[in-house]
Amino acid sequence: MQRGVISTFKGLGVFVVVAVVSAAAALFSQSLFAADQSRAKELIKNSCASCHRFEGKPDSRFNLRAPDLIWAGSKYQRSWLIGWLTGKEQPLYAKGYRWDLSEGFTKHPTVSESDANALADHFGKQYKDRRVKVGAFDVSKVTAMEVEFGRGAYKAHACIGCHVIEEHGKIIGGPQSASLVEAGHRYNMDWLFRFGQNPQDFTPHSGEFLADATEPQLRAVIGFLAVQGVKDFKYYEPWTSKEFQNASVDRGKLLYKEYCSQCHGATGHGDGPAVSGLEPKPAVHANIQFDKLPMEYLYNVVNHGGRSVGKSTTMPYWGLTIGQQGVADVIAYLKATFKGGTEAAAATPAGALSGVCPQPRNTQQAPSEFLAKANPLPASAEHTQAGKKLFMETAKPLACVNCHGQKGDGAGPIGAALVPPPRNFTCAATMNDIPDGQLFWIVNNGSTGTGMMPFPELSDREVWQLIHYLRSLAK
Ligand code: HEC
Ligand code: HEC
Ligand code: HEC
Ligand code: HEC
Repeated sequence: MQRGVISTFKGLGVFVVVAVVSAAAALFSQSLFAADQSRAKELIKNSCASCHRFEGKPDSRFNLRAPDLIWAGSKYQRSWLIGWLTGKEQPLYAKGYRWDLSEGFTKHPTVSESDANALADHFGKQYKDRRVKVGAFDVSKVTAMEVEFGRGAYKAHACIGCHVIEEHGKIIGGPQSASLVEAGHRYNMDWLFRFGQNPQDFTPHSGEFLADATEPQLRAVIGFLAVQGVKDFKYYEPWTSKEFQNASVDRGKLLYKEYCSQCHGATGHGDGPAVSGLEPKPAVHANIQFDKLPMEYLYNVVNHGGRSVGKSTTMPYWGLTIGQQGVADVIAYLKATFKGGTEAAAATPAGALSGVCPQPRNTQQAPSEFLAKANPLPASAEHTQAGKKLFMETAKPLACVNCHGQKGDGAGPIGAALVPPPRNFTCAATMNDIPDGQLFWIVNNGSTGTGMMPFPELSDREVWQLIHYLRSLAK
């Protein structure tokens, strides 16, 4: 029976080939393609199949000579595949694929450019993996914040223990399995997503690892891998999406009542029923000039929660609950409703405290080894200017100016919403008593239980430049 079926198919194949050949139109390109196909088949048979398998069930690395190419039509980006086959790509297995046989690293055989193209075409036709859903992972929707989460998850889930990546120009991690340094050029992300759902469907009993990650975490890790080795990756900016263009203040108002007022209060005065147990207190939205805040920050704090911007985890991440349209709507409501800077704002405890000099100060003291540090950079115009740029524009997750204000007196768009208020850098009476090392420590670590978030992405040099700028404000 079996045999009969197969030979029928063979018969059909011959019929198709005959039909194509006899069709006069496009005969030339078609037959060229057919020639490429048979060239690819011949190459596979004579030059690849001695090491790689192209069919069969997934098997242990310890039974194989080389990675399986059963799903080669779905796994790679074409340009990487051509590069690999023509010997232009970086090695994948630093210790050799079969490290147990102490083969060590060997150079992969190469083929000509045209043979590589023929193979890539053939893989795309013959070795597509049906389990991989096309469009399962959309690389054009990867945000900068997701990549940051992915970086964290990549480390938290031990990936770094077995796969190397590049960070700050250095290769880090364990070179046990495939190098992920060029992952953003190498993988078709739909394949990677399917692989991540269960690696054992591809590489069982090989030392591979299934992480206990939710789908959003898996997506974040893949987003992180999608930028590895890719210069000038174009990040998606969700606040430019159609959900934001279609945002509705009315819908946002209802969402605010349902999901935000329990902590931030019905009128945004930070006095909802949940606040009695919260430290830090929820921001007083009524005092925030929402219009003046960068959209990136607002989006991140609402969609990804306080943790995403170094703030308290008691500010929940709302994206899963209210969806992208909900996030867009509630932000539209915040912007339309809360403008800060009013007399009412000044009358709240937070409003009354900002700009005061000398300023009451209960900030935790830095450990003594930090307190003893002096600014190693000269107070040159160059360093002060560099500090100013970070303060006004570039510091992430949020430029200092948004809380500490244009003048540094604490009157930024969020300043009046925070208890305690931001430090008033213009107040020499308070600032002169604070050593450089204390300022350095707080910028790096934040002031726990207050609105002052940590800035882990700043280099030491940048923090010292900022401190020169802060010192230049005191009068
Ligand atoms: C002598 C054995 C050998 C031959 C012959 C060989 N390969 Fe490989 N190939 C390997 C090994 C081993 C690796 C794993 C990476 C490494 O150690 O270089 C690999 C890696 C690859 C990869 C990347 C696999 C992955 O990790 O996703 C592709 C694609 C590939 N080979 C295609 C081919 C093709 C196509 C041919 C035939 C033209 C071929 N190879 C011939 C041994 C071989
Ligand atoms: C204990 C070691 C180990 C850990 C931890 C680990 N992996 Fe792997 N990984 C492997 C092995 C082994 C394979 C199978 C391929 C092979 O034979 O090297 C693999 C395969 C992969 C592949 C496919 C490689 C290819 O080109 O075929 C990717 C991508 C990958 N892992 C990503 C991850 C991510 C992301 C994490 C963290 C969630 C992770 N790995 C954690 C060992 C590990
Ligand atoms: C469980 C209590 C809680 C709920 C519910 C809550 N928040 Fe918050 N929110 C907080 C806390 C606490 C902070 C302050 C975090 C900090 O300063 O570390 C905060 C801060 C914020 C900030 C940041 C202001 C700043 O200081 O930079 C925004 C914006 C915000 N919340 C918006 C919302 C929106 C919109 C909702 C409803 C969709 C919401 N919050 C629901 C507790 C909550
Ligand atoms: C989201 C609001 C916010 C942002 C953004 C912010 N700060 Fe603050 N900052 C505060 C608050 C609130 C305090 C008061 C904390 C306290 O009283 O302990 C503060 C305090 C400080 C202090 C005082 C430390 C001390 O020991 O007295 C320094 C220094 C400081 N911030 C520097 C910065 C710098 C530099 C940036 C930008 C890289 C920045 N802040 C961004 C809110 C903010």
